[in-house]
Amino acid sequence: MIDRIVNTGAEPTDPVEVELEVTLRPQDFSSYIGQERLKQNLQLAISAAKKRDEPMDHVLLYGPPGLGKTTMASVIANEMGAQIRITSGPAIERAGDLASLLTNLQDGDILFIDEIHRLNRTVEEVLYSAMEDFKLDIMLGKGPSARSLRLDLPKFTIIGATTRAGALAGPLRDRFGHIHRLEFYTPSEVQQIIERAAGILEVKIDRAAAGELATRARLTPRIANRLLKRVRDYADVNGDGIIDTVISSQALQLLEIDELGLDPADRMLLAAIIDSYNGGPVGVETLAALTAEERTTIEDFIEPYLMQIGLLERTPRGRRVTSKTYKHLGKTMPAATESLL
Ligand SMILES: Nc1ncnc2c1ncn2[C@@H]1O[C@H](COP(=O)(O)OP(=O)(O)O)[C@@H](O)[C@H]1O
Ligand SMILES: [Mg+2]
Repeated sequence: MIDRIVNTGAEPTDPVEVELEVTLRPQDFSSYIGQERLKQNLQLAISAAKKRDEPMDHVLLYGPPGLGKTTMASVIANEMGAQIRITSGPAIERAGDLASLLTNLQDGDILFIDEIHRLNRTVEEVLYSAMEDFKLDIMLGKGPSARSLRLDLPKFTIIGATTRAGALAGPLRDRFGHIHRLEFYTPSEVQQIIERAAGILEVKIDRAAAGELATRARLTPRIANRLLKRVRDYADVNGDGIIDTVISSQALQLLEIDELGLDPADRMLLAAIIDSYNGGPVGVETLAALTAEERTTIEDFIEPYLMQIGLLERTPRGRRVTSKTYKHLGKTMPAATESLL
């Protein structure tokens, strides 16, 4: 994927940014801003589990990247007072890898599996019985002398995270007692997240500037933090380090991020749908070709926000832009199209 500031790609790879994320990660429900319904549900489940002195039911968190799934997993662990082990779907290559992860857990531990939709079939099947009755079925030997062995596992909780709940096998999904979708944040929640991050990083930013950044951060905490950092760099070089609206507007202009948080690649994509396809509908494969991105990148990373703010719609025949898209890009809507929308 090309390096876009609004790139919400699964996890950052730049070490500086990885560290930034760790520093800024809320540790408990009170510092985890927004997602109120999710928090209420989880708080209830945690209290109930604690009262019964049992581990919590398995939790599946899904939704677009950067909304706080990994963060929530560690918040749950903290609130449960549990140890958390972190792994990911692609990292568990063989059933044996999973077996060694599971047998090394202790009662009450949490195993966080990021990108859980990327587990392979054989691993998935071992996970079913492990999640269901805390047993591990392993095969010893090969051929006629092979026998299977059932091991008791500690009572653990799996927290799975995925950007695509639809890609999860049905039987796996069914084994989660709690399935929650993370929602995009409101601009005012994003503003609070920016102000919190500014406090931790000792960045001086005024209310109005935080508000401006908040409207351009694609309703996504990861992007909000990333924008804050880039604008701080700009303020350090071109000002006295204090971020006001003059500085933030200049920095955003330099970064080519517009009032809706779109970058040039987003605008190019939308303009291409209008110019080459009359506003759509176009298939997602066409969008992939237009942007030279993978289909899954479009579906998981790029589309959700454009749909959330009403610049793109999903129809049975493909994606199409809306009257808002024409307006935002300063394009005139053909009269015939207008009557269709
Ligand atoms: N609710 C929140 N309140 C404050 N900061 C948040 C919140 N959710 C996420 N963040 C910030 O955004 C960053 C990305 O969140 P993360 O949990 O890694 O997203 P995901 O796992 O969904 O891709 C975190 O480092 C954290 O600083
Ligand atoms: Mg994550």
